[in-house]
Amino acid sequence: MQIAHLLKEKPVNSTVEIKGWVKSRRDSKNLSFLDITDGSCLKGLQVIADAGLSNYQNEILKLTAGCSIQVTGLFAESPAKGQDLELQAREIIIHGWADPDEYPLQKKKHSFEFLRTLSHLRARTNSLGAMARIRSRLSFAIHQFFQERGFIQVHTPIITTSDCEGAGEMFTVTSFDLNNPAKNNGHVDFNRDFFGQRASLTVSGQLEAEAYALALSNVYTFGPTFRAENSNTSRHLAEFWMLEPEMAFCDLDGDMNLAEEMLQHLVRVALEECSDDLDLFGRFIDKNLLSRLNNILDNSFVRMTYTEAVSQLEKSGRNFEFPVAWGMDLQSEHERFLAEELCKCPVIVKDYPKKLKPFYMRVNDDNNTVAAMDILFPKIGEIIGGSQREERLSVLMERMTETGIDHDTYSWYLDLRRFGSAPHAGFGLGFERLLLFVTGLSNIRDVIPFPRTPGSATL
Ligand code: 4AD
Ligand code: MG
Repeated sequence: MQIAHLLKEKPVNSTVEIKGWVKSRRDSKNLSFLDITDGSCLKGLQVIADAGLSNYQNEILKLTAGCSIQVTGLFAESPAKGQDLELQAREIIIHGWADPDEYPLQKKKHSFEFLRTLSHLRARTNSLGAMARIRSRLSFAIHQFFQERGFIQVHTPIITTSDCEGAGEMFTVTSFDLNNPAKNNGHVDFNRDFFGQRASLTVSGQLEAEAYALALSNVYTFGPTFRAENSNTSRHLAEFWMLEPEMAFCDLDGDMNLAEEMLQHLVRVALEECSDDLDLFGRFIDKNLLSRLNNILDNSFVRMTYTEAVSQLEKSGRNFEFPVAWGMDLQSEHERFLAEELCKCPVIVKDYPKKLKPFYMRVNDDNNTVAAMDILFPKIGEIIGGSQREERLSVLMERMTETGIDHDTYSWYLDLRRFGSAPHAGFGLGFERLLLFVTGLSNIRDVIPFPRTPGSATL
């Protein structure tokens, strides 16, 4: 039985069987106490092994951290202080030893940096185990949130021939022999490559999601996305998970409302259903974690235009590393100032200058800004980026020409405006950025099991 299940159901005085890994062993006279975990919850279970067990001397007394065992015994109230339930072993089978001279995870606090060098073993620590459980629960909560609201999940492709963000930060997918690729006039000839054209790993499922939104109304896609940007920061991954809902007959206000409601819902799920794991982070990582999370639920997000944000930044009198001026991109330090210091809560900045944003965003009446919105969180900066999409064929074509996007390559995208075009909007949530906020962890490499960053892709 799973330990989580056992601690919830509490079948006291019945015989149960658990399987898991030894965290620690402590011996007293003719008795050993084993702390066992199976990863189903943060709490372990105390197993009492007495000298009467047939393998006590030659096996149980040799158990060390990391060994895997199977225990059958009586689940009972414990006479010991600080431990209300225990398992009194009748039989212990050892499945796997872990030589203490070689096993790197002894029972002491390891730094996150050290654990990153052990990505195959670090899930066995309390903090990475807690992260994995919260990650799983919130992933499920995302599906629940959208399914309950009638959204249809679309599996958008991972291999794509579109560049949604138009930034060219894409990993090429090829089956060429890289030492001898097909060439034409000295250039690699992708027309002779596997897909008959140049293909890449997707940076966003948005464009494909739009095709489905303009058929099924409300859709979402949630999966891995890839960016070959050389940003070696604590907020960027080369492979990250993005949630992207897309809604037909929706404008920017509807988009912002949904994003805000969803973020509050996800934080509430974490507080209500991951409380043990969050407590761990509250105790060891960030003392203000729970109050910061609760603060999200109590207050609505502040909304301001990009123009207002720039004027607040100019008025702040701060000496920012990057200059602030209308028309310049907001840097992480600016975003954090707005959320952490000025508003002390999440901020939605909307209506950005069109020249800062991709071609698909809807041009506002001023012809200078677009109906974009970024949600900025304290400690994180940008957690969501979204917009209303340009549904007017002629305006979209003009924007594509301006931004150098080939009309023929994207003729399918233009078709969506030629046939039954409708106002529509959506956003992208960086799942790991949400997890950074929810756990209080400071490095994005610690909220994904196997991080991919410039220079690093272990396993
Ligand atoms: O703002 P971005 O680039 O928006 C899009 O890709 C749109 N197509 C989304 C849409 O409207 N459907 O990315 C969305 C979010 C960011 O706000 C950030 O949280 C996250 O994705 N993100 C990253 N997370 C980790 N590592 C990276 N390199 C990230 N780049 C973006
Ligand atoms: Mg963005």
